Amino acid sequence: MRREGFLCISVLGVALMMMMSLDMVGVKVEAATGLLPPAKPPLIRQYYKKLNTCANVESFVQFQVKKYWDNNRALTPKLVKLLYTDCMVNGCDASILLDGPQSEKTAPQNSGVGPGVYLVIDVIKRVLEARCPGAVSCADIIHLATRDALKLSGAPSYPVLLGRRDGFESNAASVKLPSPSISWQSALAFFQSKGLDVQDMTTLLGGHTMGRTHCSYILDRLYNFNNTGKPDPTMNKSLLESLRQTCPLNNTKRPSQQVAFLNPDNGKDYNFTNSYYKRVLANKSVLGVDQQLLYGTDTKELTDEFATYFEEFRRSFALSMTRMGGIQVLTGNKGEIRKNCRVRNKS
Ligand SMILES: *[C@@H]1O[C@H](CO)[C@@H](O)[C@H](O)[C@H]1NC(C)=O
Ligand SMILES: *[C@@H]1O[C@H](CO)[C@@H](O)[C@H](O)[C@H]1NC(C)=O
Ligand SMILES: *[C@@H]1O[C@H](CO)[C@@H](O)[C@H](O)[C@H]1NC(C)=O
Ligand SMILES: *[C@@H]1O[C@H](CO)[C@@H](O)[C@H](O)[C@H]1NC(C)=O
Ligand SMILES: *[C@@H]1O[C@H](CO)[C@@H](O)[C@H](O)[C@H]1NC(C)=O
Repeated sequence: MRREGFLCISVLGVALMMMMSLDMVGVKVEAATGLLPPAKPPLIRQYYKKLNTCANVESFVQFQVKKYWDNNRALTPKLVKLLYTDCMVNGCDASILLDGPQSEKTAPQNSGVGPGVYLVIDVIKRVLEARCPGAVSCADIIHLATRDALKLSGAPSYPVLLGRRDGFESNAASVKLPSPSISWQSALAFFQSKGLDVQDMTTLLGGHTMGRTHCSYILDRLYNFNNTGKPDPTMNKSLLESLRQTCPLNNTKRPSQQVAFLNPDNGKDYNFTNSYYKRVLANKSVLGVDQQLLYGTDTKELTDEFATYFEEFRRSFALSMTRMGGIQVLTGNKGEIRKNCRVRNKS
């Protein structure tokens, strides 16, 4: 079902949006409205300013992000993927950043995330440690940097709720992200297991309006869909032809080293637009899970809406990024503020 209050959010804007998002990601309504003390401290706006531990954190992060983005716009989809990968596996605790032989970043599903984006986070962290030692969590850096890069790419700016702390554990075996070719029903079950809903899923998949995928994730659609020995019959034939050239079966490179743009309309501009949804409607999705949006009633309705009204997509994207940013966060005395995002502090 579509989320009730979707239109209210569009109309009433950010203040309501923030309250609803707190409510929906699992903090009690009473906590948000002040009737009961919160069980654990919620994320808040301007956390570091209010604590006076790093009042200018947002401008420090923004400056670094702009510097890297000017040099390579692919930073935006890489950060979005980093954030998604962190939050959707045991919560937004920067566990994806920990190094180690069995850490999350070593999981095969995460092979496309690094290493460049980890280096950018390292630089931001070093800058912040120089300005405000021991104050800003790696988990919060991910959310600020992603918001800033998205804005540079044409997404709406939105207030990032802060106060996350960094987790201690990172385990490759816990990375159970859905495959890019699953059905919309299975994808929805996964999002719901994280406290998100069908609108979040439809909206966040719109992040595929930018970025690239390894050919290995689409070879089935191009050559052997559902073990039929034929391509996905729903895929537009001209798209099929061009993707087969980008991702040939007989290439000397391994398929995992070949990449295709998720949205050839935006390609190397990495713009944040709603053309992704137009492509879904035209049977021109690259990933199977994206094309599946046509097959659910709610997902189809939202796809129509976002394809027609870019502003609706922009608003919904800001809200869903905030909701995703609240998944299983560590606050208060949980976790720690890492000094180096790649390793736990020594106890
Ligand atoms: C894949 O094949 C199975 C078995 O033939 C069939 O039940 C299923 O509907 C097919 N899935 C798709 C997406 O075509
Ligand atoms: C597939 O895409 C091409 C190029 O955009 C377009 O000309 C063609 O009409 C599309 N095919 C179908 C069946 O919609
Ligand atoms: C590789 O495959 C592509 C597409 O199937 C085909 O057009 C091309 O001729 C093949 N190249 C070789 C060297 O076999
Ligand atoms: C995408 O980015 C390019 C490069 O900055 C720009 O020229 C183009 O107008 C942008 N397109 C849209 C739809 O924003
Ligand atoms: C997309 O594919 C579906 C299923 O094959 C088909 O019914 C529909 O007409 C196609 N839409 C377009 C715009 O080609």
